[in-house]
Amino acid sequence: MKHLLSLALLAACSTLPVAAQSASDSLGLSCATEVFSLPHRPFMHKIVASSPEVQLSVKGLPKGLRWNAQRRLIEGTAPAAGSYSYSLIVSSGKEQRTIPAQLTVSKSLGLARPFMGWISWNVVEGNISASIVRQVADAMTTQGLSAAGYRYLIIDDLWHAPQRAADGATQPDPKKFPEGMKPVVDYVHGRGLKFGIYSDAAERTCAGAYGSLGYEQQDARTYAQWGVDLLKYDYCFAPKDAATAEERYRTMGTALREAGGILLYMCEWGARKPWLWGARTGASAWRATYDTRDCWVGKPGGIGVTQSIEDMKGLWPYSGVNRFNDADMMCVGIHGTGKSSNDLCATGPGMTQDEYTTQFALWCMWSSPLLLSFDLTKPIRPEDKHLITNADLIALDQDELGQQAELVLEDQGIIYFMKDLANGDVAISATNLKDSEQTAHFDFTRFSALQPKVRYRVRDCVEQRSLPAVQGQLSQTIRPHATLVYRLSRLARR
Ligand code: GLA
Repeated sequence: MKHLLSLALLAACSTLPVAAQSASDSLGLSCATEVFSLPHRPFMHKIVASSPEVQLSVKGLPKGLRWNAQRRLIEGTAPAAGSYSYSLIVSSGKEQRTIPAQLTVSKSLGLARPFMGWISWNVVEGNISASIVRQVADAMTTQGLSAAGYRYLIIDDLWHAPQRAADGATQPDPKKFPEGMKPVVDYVHGRGLKFGIYSDAAERTCAGAYGSLGYEQQDARTYAQWGVDLLKYDYCFAPKDAATAEERYRTMGTALREAGGILLYMCEWGARKPWLWGARTGASAWRATYDTRDCWVGKPGGIGVTQSIEDMKGLWPYSGVNRFNDADMMCVGIHGTGKSSNDLCATGPGMTQDEYTTQFALWCMWSSPLLLSFDLTKPIRPEDKHLITNADLIALDQDELGQQAELVLEDQGIIYFMKDLANGDVAISATNLKDSEQTAHFDFTRFSALQPKVRYRVRDCVEQRSLPAVQGQLSQTIRPHATLVYRLSRLARR
């Protein structure tokens, strides 16, 4: 199929380097400089220099925020609604450079927390229809998914009629959506859910339907009339350069805002480093990888869980409230029954429950949007239900500080992450990338958010049970491809 071919071509160049503003710029930054917060809420902005040798300082912080020089981050409570700027000062010897940062504080941010929901592509592809949407909306509510936080029901590609209407208006395929789109969106809203739709910033979508290029305002107005809440905006058949992408996404971002505030979710697969410019287009989240596959290891170009880890691990300085790096729809629950998600797999298709748990746990550590993509018209396996409704893990994903977990170290095939949380707790994780059981050693001197002399209460977020308090370190065996996640809460200093 044409879209599969284009995906294979796209996927062929999927290795994402850790972004730097410019390799030759030793006084540069490798972190976000446009950041967001709700008013009067806990806020954190980690500052990462392109070169580790330089000094960093900050000037002009609004009241309530302070510079933590040791950890190189800004923290505190965000001010009242408004637009604030502060200066990030990078210096080395006598050389100094001042880089402005922009903080937008607003009650009506697109996304205060990463969205959670279901998206049609992996198992449904072109068979999307009003009937499937209704069944999924019912399942999301009756199966307790909406109560767990999954609120968005997103239809992906191929919902469109063969052509636009005579006046250029976009319209659904009459065979798939015989009553039109509005009654379907109303049904979804009636279930207390939000509705997302899909288009592409070119003449055609990835699977060959018509795109929105040149029709941005008209499409945004139509989506608004239907009651659409979110647009996933793809980038097949569009030029390679980042400048054109930024312009096309901004055009749609502006149209969506003017049409009443539909959320823009960018999907250019991380190919043009959208974490550097996506926030300027009005987008609140962007895909950071090519399409996930239902496997632990993808073939070259395929994104198994191990490739997601490679692509996501260095992007943490670019994530935050209203600027989330998206690791793509999860394959949890698919068990090899998907369509294109079965392609390009070196293992599987399908994963062990430990591997699915790793995927879910890391997406939560990374504050990625959480999109399920398995068939909700069939009963959910109990072990999948248990995993996708794990409130301890979901709380990490939805934490209001919006921090993507920081890469701490990779040692003997175990990768360790650390996530700062709004109430001062810290989540730490270890993923065993090896095929044999190992022991993970969390040495707190390596985790900058932890203090070796402090005792911490421990919550095992995967097993959902409390463990004895610890100080200085924590060790635990870890099954092949499994992930440990602990939430640590400070107890009194001894
Ligand atoms: C691209 C996107 C996928 C999906 C398909 C639909 O490949 O990355 O997530 O939307 O297009 O054609």
